[in-house]
Amino acid sequence: MKKWMVLLIGILTIGFAKADEGMWLPQFLENLNEKRMQQLGMKLTAKDIYSINKGSLKDAIVSFGGFCTGEVVSEKGLVLTNHHCGFESIQKHSTLDKNYIRDGFWARNQTEELPNAGLYVTFIVRIDDVSAQVLKGVEPGMMENERQSRIDRNINELKKTTVLGDFENGFVSPFFDGNKYYLFITETFNDVRLVGAPPSSIGNFGQDSDNWMWPRHTGDFSVFRIYAGRNNKPAAYSPDNVPYIPKKALTISLKGMKQDDFTMIFGFPGRTTEYLPSEAVQQIVSVNDPAKIMVRDQALAVMKRYMRADEGLKIKYASKYAGIANAWKKWQGEVLGLTRTGGVQKKLDYEAAFTQRLNADNNLKNRYGTVLQDLNSAYKDIKPFGLTRDYYLETISKIELFVIINRLRTLKAATGKPNYEKEYAAARDKLTELYKNLSPTVDRDIFAALLPVYIEKQDPAFIAPVAKQQFEQYGKNYQQWAAALYGNSVFLDSAKVMEAIKTDPSALYALFDTDPAAQLVSGMAALYDTGITPKLNELQARINGLQRSYMQAQMEVLTDKKFYPDANSTLRVGFGKVDGYYPADGIKYDYYTYLYGVMEKYVPGDYEFDVPEKLRQLYRKKDYGRYGTNGKMPVCFIASNHTTGGNSGSPALDAHGNLVGINFDRVWEGTMSDVNYDASICRNIMVDIRYVLFIIDKYAGAGHLISEMKLTGGSGR
Ligand code: ARG
Ligand code: GLU
Repeated sequence: MKKWMVLLIGILTIGFAKADEGMWLPQFLENLNEKRMQQLGMKLTAKDIYSINKGSLKDAIVSFGGFCTGEVVSEKGLVLTNHHCGFESIQKHSTLDKNYIRDGFWARNQTEELPNAGLYVTFIVRIDDVSAQVLKGVEPGMMENERQSRIDRNINELKKTTVLGDFENGFVSPFFDGNKYYLFITETFNDVRLVGAPPSSIGNFGQDSDNWMWPRHTGDFSVFRIYAGRNNKPAAYSPDNVPYIPKKALTISLKGMKQDDFTMIFGFPGRTTEYLPSEAVQQIVSVNDPAKIMVRDQALAVMKRYMRADEGLKIKYASKYAGIANAWKKWQGEVLGLTRTGGVQKKLDYEAAFTQRLNADNNLKNRYGTVLQDLNSAYKDIKPFGLTRDYYLETISKIELFVIINRLRTLKAATGKPNYEKEYAAARDKLTELYKNLSPTVDRDIFAALLPVYIEKQDPAFIAPVAKQQFEQYGKNYQQWAAALYGNSVFLDSAKVMEAIKTDPSALYALFDTDPAAQLVSGMAALYDTGITPKLNELQARINGLQRSYMQAQMEVLTDKKFYPDANSTLRVGFGKVDGYYPADGIKYDYYTYLYGVMEKYVPGDYEFDVPEKLRQLYRKKDYGRYGTNGKMPVCFIASNHTTGGNSGSPALDAHGNLVGINFDRVWEGTMSDVNYDASICRNIMVDIRYVLFIIDKYAGAGHLISEMKLTGGSGR
């Protein structure tokens, strides 16, 4: 009887394995996942998702600017992505009187669509396994740098022999910590125009308070259009370009989702580290995340104070604030989630099981004997240096005076080099951007808030002597210190700096030796570059080599486990089902939110929870058109798809491959899926496509865009 029970439970857990962890390479779905996906309800074949011989869903998916995902939804190159992915473009076109951030933007016709210098979208044409070519001549005992230069040479060789079509590009990326290499053939379009965006009170409703949270009520979408040359091929921006006719445009389903419905997310997840050893996970929870959170606490508090008081500063700092707050909040959720699900203990258990299996096989034991112990101990060695790195990088990147000075130092270093012109153009653009959105007052206060971390939280050996000296000199008073540096620095004078680098920067560079802010930056950099970086590099190389063997060992030892490669900004498929979760004891979260939830959160005039009058009106009249269901307007929903940063804007597809939502976030308690996915609390958040269409159609009156799209499943349920 007991035996039967065990067997039955065994079958159940295999058949209905709760988890559908993983970000899978689309070319391997057929072998690895197709069955499981169909078991979960998918009606497609793997070839419908990815094929190089016929049109497939992948032809509608783009990397949006390299940092987000987008999907093509019309035969005229219309692309949907998130509001926060399009935000930089929206911000660049915004002024105090044409405030698209606050009020939204809708082009009434194609001539009004706004070009965005530097923005591009990339399609994946095909993916090839090139591991054998790339790893040719790579031997087990090689030093890391020797190995890498061999690989670089092989990749260069490969590039020379790869036949590319017109307008195609190729790049090679490592997978499984360098055990595998794949070649991606791509096609990139550089004329991508802004078509529409809702006001932030819809597109970023709930802002930072609601960010990473469920229940969520954000209409996080924006609309762009790809333009091509008259031959329908990529072309630099020109007013003569025409809307791109895509190979594939997604069909949109108005049916909506219910409990356990199959969903998949097709996009470009940025970075995960799912195969770390326990010591590394331990450090994320107790050392690195807390350090970074603490520095950002300080910087954000300063920005917030000024942004709330001044609309102009709010525009200047909005994008920076959102970026800094985003990771800050994610790390907090990560610590919480790893703690709650026993992430470290789970790793220890996994390592015990791995070791047991390893030791049972003499052959494997000989090859990988101590790799896990060595890896854990390398992580122990890097711990103090990793902490200093976090403090240092967080500090110098949040104080913009430092960023400006460092940018100029880089430019100076390029003087006389063949690539100087390119460096100059890059520095000029970056500095123009920095100055445009800089308030010296805000920055001064950020300085005064962050230097205490650098001075007081660190091992004194890691503090630059000039920092100690200036700290003494200004009476150990951070405000006084800040006032002195910001009162006089030429580097805050944008006109002078821009003119100097354009004509003759020598006098400006001479100030590196006399300007106290520049002296401080140089001193901090010198200590870091000579005292920390070499050590970090050496330890990181050791870790990389060990992590690669450990990865290989896991795949050879745990042969019954399916492995997916860590995210690396390449095209992936995640799949799962619509489902709520238990965020804490006694609380169950449902999987859908509705417009009445927006109204429940509505706080008139609030900077995060205001709701535009027009939307309130539509709500009062229940004027939802064909997008509502049973008198309600759906807004967001969640599912168990494994996603990460970069998946923003990714299409959420149903069992038939129809577009049902746009991915934009994860739930706070589950952000540790980057390190250790746990099916009980890891959920991705999508805005329901019906809400997107409702806003475009009913709120913005841009029905002409809807007519471009192909809709199915009309009446709702
Ligand atoms: N957390 C989401 C992501 O990682 C959304 C960020 C944008 N929203 C915001 N309020 N900052 O990108
Ligand atoms: N908002 C994220 C992005 O910009 C997606 C959320 C996540 O990290 O999963 O890609």
